[in-house]
Order: sequence, then structure tokens, then C-alpha cells
Amino acid sequence: MLTLLTSFKVARGVVFLAVLALVAISCSDFLTSAPDDGDVFDAPLEGLTAAEQAAFVRGDAEFGRRFSPATGLGPVFNNVSCISCHSGDGRGRLENSLHRIGSVADGFLGAIGGPQIQDKATPGAHAEPIPTGVAVSVRLPPPVFGAGLIEAIPDAALIALADENDANGDGISGRPNWTTSHEYVPATEPGGGAGPRIGRFGRKAQTPTILQQTVEAYHQDMGITSEFHPQENRNPMSPVPAENFDLAADPEVPSATVLAVVHYLRTLAPPAAGAESAARAEGKSLFTSVGCAQCHVPTLNTGLHAIAALANKPVTLYSDLLLHDMGDALADNRPDGGASGREWRTTPLWGLRLMRQFLNGQAFLMHDGRARTVEQAILLHGGEALRARTAFAGLSVGQRASLLDFVESR
Ligand code: HEC
Ligand code: HEC
Repeated sequence: MLTLLTSFKVARGVVFLAVLALVAISCSDFLTSAPDDGDVFDAPLEGLTAAEQAAFVRGDAEFGRRFSPATGLGPVFNNVSCISCHSGDGRGRLENSLHRIGSVADGFLGAIGGPQIQDKATPGAHAEPIPTGVAVSVRLPPPVFGAGLIEAIPDAALIALADENDANGDGISGRPNWTTSHEYVPATEPGGGAGPRIGRFGRKAQTPTILQQTVEAYHQDMGITSEFHPQENRNPMSPVPAENFDLAADPEVPSATVLAVVHYLRTLAPPAAGAESAARAEGKSLFTSVGCAQCHVPTLNTGLHAIAALANKPVTLYSDLLLHDMGDALADNRPDGGASGREWRTTPLWGLRLMRQFLNGQAFLMHDGRARTVEQAILLHGGEALRARTAFAGLSVGQRASLLDFVESR
């Protein structure tokens, strides 16, 4: 009996090793190198309490949970889980982009199922076609790490960076996207409660809180109702009877599920920057001298926070979180809250060094993923960023290489 058991254990060990080897082989197809600590987008912030860490693990599972019609998916939706769009918690692939349509000023938005196109539907329901004659804005999924740090930066820090009328005459006039948070967001949430709030999330900084972003993602992107938003999202152009919506009773997820995901995003650490070198130090100083750092502000600081790991911490995100007019080529002509059809939130540059590992070696940059390299992304900058773009193009080949290496090592 004993020998039998031992040999069974040995056999099991061999199978386990063989599986490990297989996994290693198949992963090496996707990863350019094995991730070290800090290279994963799935690590919690340092300094969480045991309870906060346990809640992180619960939220991680919910972020990865796949829905089906039996568990409430639909009737109209874009994808089946959060992680299926936000690959590895990082940016998404082109096919997972969302199409936002019309503008809030177009009164007919409600009638055509705006503001977002749901391109999939459960059996018996109908997906939404893109209507003709409305402005369509394609949005690549941004990374979700570091969201808690972004949310914890005090309004005052962002207002101090704004220069709406370009009083200092540098050609750059960043401004906050002033918005209001949804009434289901309690005043106890950062960015919640009545009154104007600074939007921080979304490509046009149109959403002020992680809670609102999460509730709307469940509702709009997956057709999952919650206690915060209990009515199904329907396609008003082709109504279907309520019994054909999906097989689950509303609300399909309790508040606890939504709040678990909120906690997960809030405590999900951004990846650390890559190693420093002499060339990178040169790249860093060029980044400042050509004017990149005027919008891609290297470091901001958080204020007070109920989670100690988020309180009074430096946030090395390379963004001012403000809106900038980026010129004709990038304009989507679709306003979003206070943002115009020409304005975008300065994209944080943290985590760029790892993006290819989660996109099968590819890179998709800018709001719609149209740039395939950092250099292409820079050369697309116009409007308020024209001066910086021109200064970049005027650098020597070697200087451009150092600047690009610096940016890609963030
Ligand atoms: C169909 C693809 C898709 C799914 C599914 C999806 N997202 Fe997103 N997510 C996006 C896109 C696209 C944006 C940018 C939206 C915009 O700019 O209008 C975004 C933005 C975000 C942001 C803001 C990040 C930032 O810095 O701007 C967060 C946070 C987020 N999503 C969380 C979630 C959560 C939580 C879920 C699941 C409950 C989820 N998403 C499901 C595509 C998706
Ligand atoms: C006037 C403000 C401003 C300046 C100056 C500026 N940027 Fe940007 N940057 C932005 C905005 C806004 C976006 C997002 C545009 C979009 O998505 O269409 C962006 C996007 C990017 C992206 C794409 C990131 C991603 O993940 O998609 C990179 C890379 C980048 N900038 C690097 C630079 C560099 C390097 C410089 C200096 C040569 C620079 N930027 C100067 C505002 C600015």
C-alpha cells in the first residue's frame, strides 16, 4: 500500500512537472521574457492589511468572472468579463474597443441606444448596428492598474496644473473635465456626492469615480444589472420581451460584488519603472526639455485616504489627468461631459515597458490604438502638443532614441 501510494505520488509529480513544462513552453510564445516581481499587472499595492489583501483576491476573481445568459449576460453586451477587454489588467486589443456614438447634445441618443454601441446580443435579442449620420468614437480599453492612486490625487493638485486660458503663453491650456458623479455614488466614496467633480477615468476623463466606472461597465459592457443600476440596458431600436432578456433575475450581481471589484481596482499596483541608465537619464532630461512633461507630469501625490497604502503616496503616472486639444487628426468630434470633440485626457505612460507582453508582442497606442510604436504616437500629437512634437522631430537620431527608450522603460 505504502509503495503504491509513493509511486502514485511520484507519478503525480511527473505529470505536474510535465504540465509545468508545457505551460512554460506555451507562455514563452507570448512573453518576450519571464516576468519578475513587479512586472505583473496583478499585484496588490504594498502595505495592505491582511483584510485588504483578502478583499483584493476576492475582487480579482470577480474581475475575471465570465458571464453567460444563465448568469445574466445581455440582452445586449460587448464582452463576457472585465478581463476579456482589459487584457492582463492592461490595455486591450483593437477588437475589444468600444464605439461611443452621438453626443449628449443630440436629443435622439436615447432613442438609438446611445451612448455606446453594444455589438453583441443574447439569443432572441438584437445587437445594435452603428447608426448612420452620428459621430462615432472608437476607444481602446486603457489599463486599469493604479486606478486607486489616480482617484486619490486631490482635486487641488489637478486644478493647480490647469491653465485653461493659457495665461503663461506656452501654447498648452489643460483643464479638468468637470462632471457630476452619479447619484448612486455615496458621498463617502472618493469623488462621490453632490456638486461638480473632476473626471479622471475614461479617454476623456468623463468619469469621476472607480465605483461609477465599474457599475457602468457591468451595465453597458456586459449587460449585468446591479443593485446600483437594476434596470436592464436594452436596444430601443428592436425591443424584445422581458422574458427574452436573459435567464437571471435583476439585479444580477449584489452591491458586494461591485464593491469587491472597486476594491480590487483601487488596490491594484501599477508596474514599477524599468532600470535606470545613462542613456535613460539623457532621455529623461530631453522628455522635460522638449515639453513632454508639461502634460505628462512625471509625479503627482495622493492625499488622505481610508486605505493607508493609498494615503500621501507619490504617483509616478506621467499625466496631469487634464484635457488637451490634440488637433484635427486625433479629434473624434464627439463631446463627452465637459470634454469637446477635440480634447483627450493626457494618457498616463506608466506600464508602457510591459504592454507588448500582454498583447502578443504588439503595441496599440492612442485613444483608438492607431499608433503601433511610441514614435508614431508622438508624431500624431497636434494642437496643444504641436510644439513638443516639433521639438521632438528636431532632435538628433541619437537623442530621439534616448527619449523613446526612456518613455518605453516606464
Ligand atoms: C467591451 C470591452 C470592455 C469591458 C467588457 C470592460 N471594459 Fe473597462 N473600459 C473599456 C474601454 C473601451 C474603456 C475606455 C472608455 C472610454 O474612454 O470611454 C474602459 C475604461 C475602464 C476604466 C478606466 C481606466 C482609465 O484609466 O481610464 C476602468 C477602471 C474600467 N474600464 C474597468 C472595467 C471593469 C471593472 C469592467 C468589468 C465590470 C470593465 N472595465 C469591462 C472596455 C471594456
Ligand atoms: C499638450 C499636452 C501633451 C504634450 C505636450 C505631450 N503629450 Fe503625449 N499625449 C497627450 C494626450 C492628450 C494623449 C492622448 C491622445 C489620444 O489618445 O488621442 C497623449 C498620448 C501619448 C502617448 C500614447 C500613450 C498610450 O498609451 O496610448 C505617448 C507615448 C505620448 N503621449 C508621449 C508623449 C511624448 C514623448 C511627448 C513629448 C515629445 C508628449 N507625449 C507630449 C498629451 C500631450
